[in-house]
Amino acid sequence: MSYRALALKYRPRTFAEIVGQETVVRTLQNALRSGRIGHAFLLTGTRGVGKTTSARILAKALNCSRADGPTPEPCLECASCTEIAAGNSLDVQEIDGASNNGVENVRELRESARYNPSRDRFKVWVIDEVHMLSTAAFNALLKTLEEPPPRVKFIFATTDYHKVPDTILSRCQQYDFKQLSTRQLHDHLRHVAKEEQIAISELALGRVARAAEGSVRDALSLFDQVLAYSGSEVKDEDLATLLGLVDRELLTGASRAVLESDAATLLRLVDSLAVAGADYRTYCRELLLHFRELLLLKVAPGDEALLQELTAEERAAISPIADAFSEDDLLRALDLLGRSELELRNATDPRVALELVLLKLATLRRLLPLAELLARAERLDGFQRRDEPGAGPMGATSRTAAPPPPSPHGAATPRPTPAAVAPAPRPAPAPASRPTPAAAAAAAPAPARRGAAAPASPPVDVPALPADAPAEDVLQALKAAASARPSLSTPLKGATARLEGGALVLEPDADYAAFVSSHAADYEELLRRAGARLKLRVEARAGATAEATPQQKKREELMQEAAADPAVQVTLDLFGGRVVDVREASDQEKVK
Ligand SMILES: Nc1ncnc2c1ncn2[C@@H]1O[C@H](COP(=O)(O)OP(=O)(O)OP(=O)(O)O)[C@@H](O)[C@H]1O
Ligand SMILES: [Mg+2]
Ligand SMILES: [Zn+2]
Repeated sequence: MSYRALALKYRPRTFAEIVGQETVVRTLQNALRSGRIGHAFLLTGTRGVGKTTSARILAKALNCSRADGPTPEPCLECASCTEIAAGNSLDVQEIDGASNNGVENVRELRESARYNPSRDRFKVWVIDEVHMLSTAAFNALLKTLEEPPPRVKFIFATTDYHKVPDTILSRCQQYDFKQLSTRQLHDHLRHVAKEEQIAISELALGRVARAAEGSVRDALSLFDQVLAYSGSEVKDEDLATLLGLVDRELLTGASRAVLESDAATLLRLVDSLAVAGADYRTYCRELLLHFRELLLLKVAPGDEALLQELTAEERAAISPIADAFSEDDLLRALDLLGRSELELRNATDPRVALELVLLKLATLRRLLPLAELLARAERLDGFQRRDEPGAGPMGATSRTAAPPPPSPHGAATPRPTPAAVAPAPRPAPAPASRPTPAAAAAAAPAPARRGAAAPASPPVDVPALPADAPAEDVLQALKAAASARPSLSTPLKGATARLEGGALVLEPDADYAAFVSSHAADYEELLRRAGARLKLRVEARAGATAEATPQQKKREELMQEAAADPAVQVTLDLFGGRVVDVREASDQEKVK
């Protein structure tokens, strides 16, 4: 027996067999039941969603001879029903509007419409792709539609009803066929797989359903392809290669890498796409859908209707990723991917274009929302003004602040937009006496604070700490006082403190010990603001002072120098960064 395409084999024969399209089906059946039947039906909707199928069922419903009149449930057995199904009914004519679109075709039709049906209840014309008719043909058709012979029915189908003239539209009952949801396609494929006795995983079925983009015909044709390749046992691995589909792991891998701003992983991922021969645009589209799912999980985690396209396993796999992103991140990613999908279509080198998109995605998260940046600038501004006139070392920073130093890491560093920088402390030319920073500092955002709530508000006049406050409370108060200044608060993170003879002895993390010592005056000032009347002593943690190599010492010095540079401090405070590395500036850079 020769193989029949699944789409043909599983063409619904009754209204009940049509998947989805409940509204259309119910309205048609009600009309048939009540006998309120127009003489022209227009079935509209995208490809492969059941228009032609429904047109044939409707023709059977109109002409089934088992019933006394039109019936919502044609018998499928009488001569009329079987002939219509076989396509050889004398009274039901199917015309392809794409190839019979001239006025002479419609004239023939009009001529024939003047005669009674040869046997059945109605003469039915099914005109598929009706929007392809020429203007003259439409005009000729219009005459018949205006005064239809009593036993004539028209069923038009089109994917493009905008191209059907209004004069025609207004004389038809319109039925709009919807695209199917992935879930509906998935269920339908499961049914077909069972009928065909095919072993295939739920995951694989879901992937085929998703690739069909709402069309039942596409879903079944894709399934045909899969079966031709795999036989009756479908392995998950076969699918990706076969359908040019994107492995889910490549999507979750990408979103995880975006989360971690891991550009290298993203590039490796594009490479594995290349190896698998996957289509870059498909990948971009899939990634867009993936981020959409993340956003839905984020904003409407309980909404089953919105999330119905996800299986329980998929949901469990991506929920943690959704949790880790902020809503803002996801919106920006979606925006970028949406634009990129279009661009990728015309790109001369889609691979490079995709790489660029992914790299942009990786840096996207590092861009602070503008509002957050402005708020930080304001807090800093307020903080510094309070210091004047008797400005301590911290107050001085705002007046000698230079613009943020260029980053040696290019795209890996947040770049302020001009608007974002504007409200920052006014940059003034650095005084000549300022020690030339022999270092360029790379400010990397501290990951923990990204997208998090804004740091605490600027210190107001805090009540004095009780004289007998324990060291832990004093440290907390110090941290709170420093919260508006990431350059000072970050080094306090792992610090411990104890009280000793009227002084707070601070033991910072080894990494920050040098920095805190050199900024002891700043911290003392913060202590004062926190309401503690205590001296401050910085001690290195026991065991932290291993012998340093000359390079380490040099690096240490540079780190300190960089951290002490007012320009660097302002940058750190504004962008919530910390100094991760320093390098000696070349002579050329120093001259600039
Ligand atoms: N709603 C549906 N329920 C079940 N099967 C469907 C449905 N829609 C389409 N199919 C399947 O897809 C095949 C094609 O459907 P049909 O010819 O009705 O699509 P169409 O909407 O006319 O598409 P086109 O616009 O491309 O002509 C059918 O044979 C059937 O197997
Ligand atoms: Mg069709
Ligand atoms: Zn019948």
